Amino acid sequence: MPNAEEPPRFPRSSAYHPDWILTGASGGANALWLTEWLAEAMELRAGMRVLDLGSGRGTSSVFLHREFGVQVWSVDLWFDPGERLARFRDAGVEDAVFPLRADARSLAFAPGFFDAVVSVDSFVYFGTDDLYANTLARFLVPAGALGIAGAGLVDELDGPVPEHLRSWWEPSLACLHSAAWWRRHWERSGLLDVERADTMPDGWQRWLEWQRAVSPDNHVEIDAVTADRGRNLGYVRAVARRRADVEPDEPITSLPTEYVSRPLLRG
Ligand SMILES: C[S@@+](CC[C@H](N)C(=O)[O-])C[C@H]1O[C@@H](n2cnc3c(N)ncnc32)[C@H](O)[C@@H]1O
Repeated sequence: MPNAEEPPRFPRSSAYHPDWILTGASGGANALWLTEWLAEAMELRAGMRVLDLGSGRGTSSVFLHREFGVQVWSVDLWFDPGERLARFRDAGVEDAVFPLRADARSLAFAPGFFDAVVSVDSFVYFGTDDLYANTLARFLVPAGALGIAGAGLVDELDGPVPEHLRSWWEPSLACLHSAAWWRRHWERSGLLDVERADTMPDGWQRWLEWQRAVSPDNHVEIDAVTADRGRNLGYVRAVARRRADVEPDEPITSLPTEYVSRPLLRG
């Protein structure tokens, strides 16, 4: 823990009440720490339209509006938008932070609607698909920013899951990737210019600090992260801009066909 003279690592987040952060936790990581870290690498200006994709219970959405004056569309699949609306009203931000339940794979916004997309500890659930950058880039203005931050790997696992992580590991953790993986994944799309892809220094310690606060009985995860000591697990961040000189492909929603009757068999 920082001593009294040491400035907090996340000065913006440290102004928020710990009870508010804990009761708004959606699992995973401390959403404010990751949003603050992500915002350090992005240009967020007042009045921008920002999609908070996989916003969970919306603490990151409140934070983005309060800290940067952006309008936020707080989109999530699993969590009730009604609970988020209550949180937004209580925080006095309901005129600028809008809760929606939607699947990131079937968003219905107008093309070019957003100046920026942020996704905190969520992008791994849908963004590893090779075609997803195309899906998402359509909703960004040309040169609009895409930023993600969340749990990930320091380096890609080359071989079996290390012994010290096995009791915690589940098959779905195959979606965790390194910053270098995200850089390559987005560069391959041909639609994004990657500006940053890195790993949080001592991120595993922040991971532990948060787990001990939010879920102190989760010994399996705490023991795994402690044993790992940042060799494999950490927080990764990636920031890119939609290329202005390339148009994303239009999504195929239906192909027109007309039935032509022909004999079924040769004989
Ligand atoms: C670990 S939680 C993180 C939530 C929040 N951003 C935070 O950091 O506390 C992962 C979130 O991803 C969202 N999610 C997963 N798949 C999704 C999808 N296909 N479309 C939209 N959101 C999705 C879930 O609803 C969930 O809230």
